[in-house]
Amino acid sequence: MKKYLIPAVALALSLAACNPSEIKPSQDNPEGLISKKCDSVLALMTLEEKIGQLNQYSGDGELTGPVALRPDLLKSIRDGKVGSMLNINGAGYTRKIQKIAVEESRLKIPLIFGYDVIHGYKTIFPVPLGESAAWDPDLAEKAARVSATEAAAAGQHWTFAPMVDIARDARWGRIMEGSGEDPYLGSLLAVARVKGFQGEDLADPTTILACAKHYAGYGAAQAGRDYYTTDISEHSLREVYLPPFKAIAESGVETFMSAFNDLNGIPATGNRYLIHDILKTEWAFKGMVVSDWASISEMIMHGIVADKYEAGDLAFNAGVDMDMEGNVYISEMQNLLKDRKITEAQINESVRRVLRLKFKLGLFDDPYRYSDSIREAATLLKPEYLELARDAARKSFVLLKNEKNILPLSSSGKTIALIGPAADAAGDMIGNWSGRGEAKHVITLKQELESRIGDGKVIYAKGADFLGDDRSGFAAALAAARRADVIIAACGEAGMMSGESMSRADISIPGVQEELLLELAKLGKPLVLVLFNGRPLILTEISKTLPAILVAWIPGTMAGPALCDVLFGEYNPSGKLPVTFPYAVGQCPIFYNYKNSGRPGAQDQKFTSRYLDVPNDPLYPFGFGLSYTGFAYSNLTLGKPVITLEEPLEVSVDVRNTGNVAGTETVQLYIRDLVGSVTRPVKELKGFKKVFLKAGEAQTVSFTIKPDELAFYNREMKWGTEPGKFKVFVGTDSRSTMEAGFELK
Ligand code: BGC
Repeated sequence: MKKYLIPAVALALSLAACNPSEIKPSQDNPEGLISKKCDSVLALMTLEEKIGQLNQYSGDGELTGPVALRPDLLKSIRDGKVGSMLNINGAGYTRKIQKIAVEESRLKIPLIFGYDVIHGYKTIFPVPLGESAAWDPDLAEKAARVSATEAAAAGQHWTFAPMVDIARDARWGRIMEGSGEDPYLGSLLAVARVKGFQGEDLADPTTILACAKHYAGYGAAQAGRDYYTTDISEHSLREVYLPPFKAIAESGVETFMSAFNDLNGIPATGNRYLIHDILKTEWAFKGMVVSDWASISEMIMHGIVADKYEAGDLAFNAGVDMDMEGNVYISEMQNLLKDRKITEAQINESVRRVLRLKFKLGLFDDPYRYSDSIREAATLLKPEYLELARDAARKSFVLLKNEKNILPLSSSGKTIALIGPAADAAGDMIGNWSGRGEAKHVITLKQELESRIGDGKVIYAKGADFLGDDRSGFAAALAAARRADVIIAACGEAGMMSGESMSRADISIPGVQEELLLELAKLGKPLVLVLFNGRPLILTEISKTLPAILVAWIPGTMAGPALCDVLFGEYNPSGKLPVTFPYAVGQCPIFYNYKNSGRPGAQDQKFTSRYLDVPNDPLYPFGFGLSYTGFAYSNLTLGKPVITLEEPLEVSVDVRNTGNVAGTETVQLYIRDLVGSVTRPVKELKGFKKVFLKAGEAQTVSFTIKPDELAFYNREMKWGTEPGKFKVFVGTDSRSTMEAGFELK
């Protein structure tokens, strides 16, 4: 028995209904063993203690003095009325709070500590949308692994990530927390991130629980306004919004978070169809469902319940196991039980789901195994983590324009004017949801440029703020630009302009920055815009005028080194947009996998599905991204013109590097089902491959499409393939026009 095996379990093992001799570690069926252990603990619990496990409360960040929690919260922990805490950080502080739970409560059940580790804990990676532009599941897994290792060393057991909400509307600020607009790419990255957080085995103390959020449909907020209503057809729900959730439920994610939004008239947190029927029954999810912050009590505001009592009834019967900061379960559950709205068996089931995680994490053996200050000090910001953050950042950058090959820049001899509010803004490089990341650890573009080419060669002028209409810095910026050979403009959104409750109706470059950029462009000098953004921005004017644009997203702790690697050609950009960049905000929501309509848009033709004032096409499509070299596609070949349900389709294409430098291309494959029992999108991503090609090198890239990858929900809402004709498109982005046809018989 391990040193820390806590009295509650020791007691449970001796008193429990099951025979302790049956409870032997079993390699074959660890879940069976855990289930017996849960029953044993459950048998000792009073009703109050059971209900207690179903509540989560927020702490106050990092301890700076003695235990700083509100006294009522400390009492609740002592009384066994808390199952989990969020926002308690640091090995030392989590240890102190854990000590109260395991030494001062009757059953000494350990707490689970949860935190939003969204794109890093201390070492901050690019925001998830940016990281997704690398189209690299392996990288996403590695980044999540590092984030988990750091967070675990600092006392965290659970991250509220990944956010797998498909988002098609750039106005929605939380688009930055996910993988963008595509369910296929989104599912692959979601699975990779969960694997990174949870590792192979949660018994490994460098792993943490992941959380699929926000279940479901939250990204479809009407008009892009956060927390707002969603109205999603069953087809779109199943084919667009649910696939990443289903993929990670199947790959073993241990927790789900119910979303804030009203979904087709029933808030997601009270939506039994979503949680009980689909998640827990159809997908047989064995993990635990936590509400979003107060989303149970917010159902009163939604107008679907009159009070907390009814809110608790709706949420618990929908299948929400744990109440995050809603104070509903704690106050209402006993009455709900008394009134037979819920049963004790239901409560036991939810408590079992909570206890199961505590066992899986090994907290009953050693409640302090994650709260180790020595490990914490040795783990955070390791050089190899920073190196990975730098690699993730440079792989996330997307080159949108590079007229006359302005980029890469030469690092010798030239004087560079560095202009813009983002050039030296450390905090804005880590942005929103940046865990315990600190601005002081960030290397900015200015710092890195100066150290690479010497500060005498860098003339810095901020020029403008992110926001506001102050133009007083323009003159100095223009003067700096006049003295330089090359201008680098670091502009865009401030780090906190995307994320939760950061919706924007105007998604242009904010403040007077665009004006400043256009003034700089008038000088006719080589000018590179390095764009910082947590969402697609409107670049229509800028892209006509500026010769070079590099999308840097919110790049993280290693912003400066990663940017200089790309600007000076030490790394050839390879990122591809995981989300459409609209031509005008009025096109939102906009996405590549739209339906054709009966009158597909033709710009110059009346009575077609079009705008009078802007094209239907976006400015930069999904999947778009340039390189310092070029890639030519040829010889698209299908294995067979006709396939059956039993045989896969083989597709190959030759890709050649046509330039003078090596580069990585992401070869993308889309299909179109020409006639379906329900209308099908004009294109759907079904595969991609990243290939590294030396200058002049060519490679044949092959794909295999299995017939079940052509399946969809038919008119009767049954999942399956339908025979018929299909098109295959292969190329460099979602506008790829190289096509071939085949038939499924
Ligand atoms: C957010 C969640 C987050 C939670 C806890 C909520 O406001 O919607 O994404 O995990 O807070 O911080």
